[in-house]
Amino acid sequence: MTNAALQARYGNEAPGLTLPNLPALDAMLGHRSVRHFLRDALPAHTIETLVAAAQSAPTSSNLQTWSVVAVESQERRDALANLVGPQKHLGIAPLVLVFLADLSRIERLGQSQARDPVGLHYLDTFLMGVIDAALAAQNAVVAAEAMGLGTVYVGGMRNQPEEVAKVLGTPKNVFPVFGLVVGHPDPARPAQVKPRLPQSAVLHREQYQVPADQHEEIGNYNEALRTFMRTNGMKEVDWSAQVVERLSTPEALTGRHRLFEALKNAGFSYTDIEG
Ligand SMILES: Cc1cc2nc3c(=O)[nH]c(=O)nc-3n(C[C@H](O)[C@H](O)[C@H](O)COP(=O)(O)O)c2cc1C
Repeated sequence: MTNAALQARYGNEAPGLTLPNLPALDAMLGHRSVRHFLRDALPAHTIETLVAAAQSAPTSSNLQTWSVVAVESQERRDALANLVGPQKHLGIAPLVLVFLADLSRIERLGQSQARDPVGLHYLDTFLMGVIDAALAAQNAVVAAEAMGLGTVYVGGMRNQPEEVAKVLGTPKNVFPVFGLVVGHPDPARPAQVKPRLPQSAVLHREQYQVPADQHEEIGNYNEALRTFMRTNGMKEVDWSAQVVERLSTPEALTGRHRLFEALKNAGFSYTDIEG
């Protein structure tokens, strides 16, 4: 299973090794985002199980600067679905988890102790919240997949973060990092493992090596991803063109180019940026 999994992940560029036969490794290598869900209810206590996995992730200095809003109501999921794209799977799968960078808890602790945690006003502390939220969420993904459920992240939560904040009722100093849709995958429309760049593109040993010519490895990857697109009925494009296009104009960021303004609107302020 594991070598087949390596093949699925890297195609012809699969590293020549035999992976240890570990269920955890199989599960991680077999990851695929799911965008076609059944409306079926989740098993009892799914939310609490996923949050237990999420809270088991490491967290910077044990500050635990994240929270999650579990959204189950049809009305609220529909509202979020519209704000993030639209992306209709949010209205179909029974659960949307919205992971938040949450500095408000520490702010409240500071108030109750009559202290001003000025460290909250440095960019690194926001980054800490984002990192904590991401590590927590990925643990939830691994747990959900182990339970036979499907997930997809929703970075679109940052397209209109002020509107998302209204739907979720978040206080000052809280920012939606991304959503995670959780549900039963539709067996009629199964998702496939999406190939990744060869390890030679991302793995540097001892020191970073800027490639003299990355043409060949990227060219091979373009081909692998075109095959994935073709077999999944998607419009075929070169990955190398797609990624540059995605970042070619501020508008291509679908609202996220105004992150700094959105953070200010959410009550964040930055001593190290604004003096
Ligand atoms: C932070 C983050 C945000 C994402 N946002 C979206 C999104 O808004 N909509 C979506 O369909 N997929 C989203 N994805 C899923 C990626 O498109 C997907 O992980 C990537 O194409 C690789 O495919 P795979 O997860 O199937 O391996 C997001 C993934 C991450 C990590």
